[in-house]
Parts: sequence; structure tokens; C-alpha cells
Amino acid sequence: MVGSASGSIAADLDGKVNEMALITDIHTHVLPGIDDGPNDLEAAQNLLAAFHASGTDRVFCTSHLLSPHFDSNLDGLRAAYHRLTEGLTRHDGPELALGAELRMTASLADLLRMGEVPALGDSHYVLCEFRSDHVSTRALELVHELVVRGYQPIMAHPERNLELQKHPERLDELAACGLLFQVTAQCFEAGPHDGHPGQRLAWRMLEEGRVAVIASDAHDPAVRPPGLLPAYEAISAHAGDAVAEVLIMNANAIWADEPVRELVPARPKRSLWRRVFG
Ligand SMILES: [Fe+2]
Repeated sequence: MVGSASGSIAADLDGKVNEMALITDIHTHVLPGIDDGPNDLEAAQNLLAAFHASGTDRVFCTSHLLSPHFDSNLDGLRAAYHRLTEGLTRHDGPELALGAELRMTASLADLLRMGEVPALGDSHYVLCEFRSDHVSTRALELVHELVVRGYQPIMAHPERNLELQKHPERLDELAACGLLFQVTAQCFEAGPHDGHPGQRLAWRMLEEGRVAVIASDAHDPAVRPPGLLPAYEAISAHAGDAVAEVLIMNANAIWADEPVRELVPARPKRSLWRRVFG
């Protein structure tokens, strides 16, 4: 891990709330020249600046790995991370750690065999990508393989999965396999009953206490931008400050390789979030 947390938000707070206000993003595409994130180092640095401006303090760099859409490999991710972080000691931006968005595909068996599964930083959490149209039995077998080896798999953006949009009851089965769920933050910027099916599933999952963590999945400063505060504010307004706080703490727990907490949705009683971040 390199760099230093900006502390820009934490500086306005104190005590427990201060710790809570460190903003960690566990799913981003910031490494240069790997996937559909930034093409080169300059674009990656611009994206990092956008993370900083959005109030994000810590970023896991989770480029695609084993995806059929990108020809990436673990050495390439490590080299790009080194290029991005080299000489970053004076960088006034988010603290970085290397991870991957790991596709649940047959090739994962090789990484498992070699003990080369890319977790999030030094943690035991692994960000897992599934096909977007359904969740296969083979993918769940790979999830099981991760679990038995001591990893904690996190399913990236389940709200986008077409099968889960039609059959959200399948989320029970996925959770029983040991998956935690990471929902895309931007989904919460539409109201609970507005937006596309993915956004509605995101709110439903939140209300049912299924969301462990939210993340930006940022690729670009403009098209798929960083920034979690608008989502936390919307969640706070609709589901209560306590829900937003648990989600913030869970992202920080993943960074620290500590257990995440279960979500207990509740209606807001006071507008702490607006007072602090408004
Ligand atoms: Fe992603």
C-alpha cells in the first residue's frame, strides 16, 4: 500500500465518526493500460485525482482478471500497479492497494492450484465477477473452492445480473454459498422506486439487508466516475444514518481485513449525514 489518506473528510469530524468517515472504494479500474479503465499513465493519474476530488481516501485497484473481454494477467496487473504507484510518495491522493476483479471461470482453478489468487490488498477478501446473464453452477463451485481455501468472496455488482433481476430469491442461494454482495454506488443515486431494474434491485437488496458494501466501479472521471458520497447520502436519507455508517465501516473493514457487519436497515431519526457531509 502506498500514498496517504487525504483525511479531507475525516478532518471535519472527531472520535468514532472520524474513523467512520474514511471513505474506501473496493472496486475500481484505475490501473493504466489493462482493461476498459484508463489507457495510459496520465489518464490513470487523472482518474486518481478525480477519486481525491470525490472524497475517496483509499482505493483498491481491481482491474479485470480472467475476463474473456480483456487479455490481462497477474504479472501485468502488478507491473501496472508499480508504474502507477512509483514515485507516488508525495501524491496527495487516495491510498492505493492492489486487487483484481476476478472472473469466475475455469482458469481460476490454475490460480487456486498455484496459490496465486489475487485478494484485495493483504486481506482474505476476493472481488468476484460473474457472467451478466446468469449465475452458473460452475461459478458457484469456484466460489466454494475459494471459501474452503480461506478466502471471503465478494460478488461484484449482483444488481446487474439479469437472472438475479428476474429471480432475486436466488440471492439466498448465493449467500448460502458464502458470497457477500457489493452493489454499485451509482444505483442509489436514483430513488428506491425509480431507475432501471438494476437500480431497483440494488435498493431492494439494501432494504433486505443483503448489501455488504458499495463501490464505484469507476473507470473514467466522466463516464463511470468515482465518488461514493452521493450514494451514502441517498442511503442515509432513505434508509437511515446507521445503514450508511455500516456500509462505510464495512469498506474500511475489508481494507483492514476485519469482519464486515450485517446490515440492519432502519429509517433515519436524525440528519447526521446531511450535517456532516451536506
Ligand atoms: Fe468492475
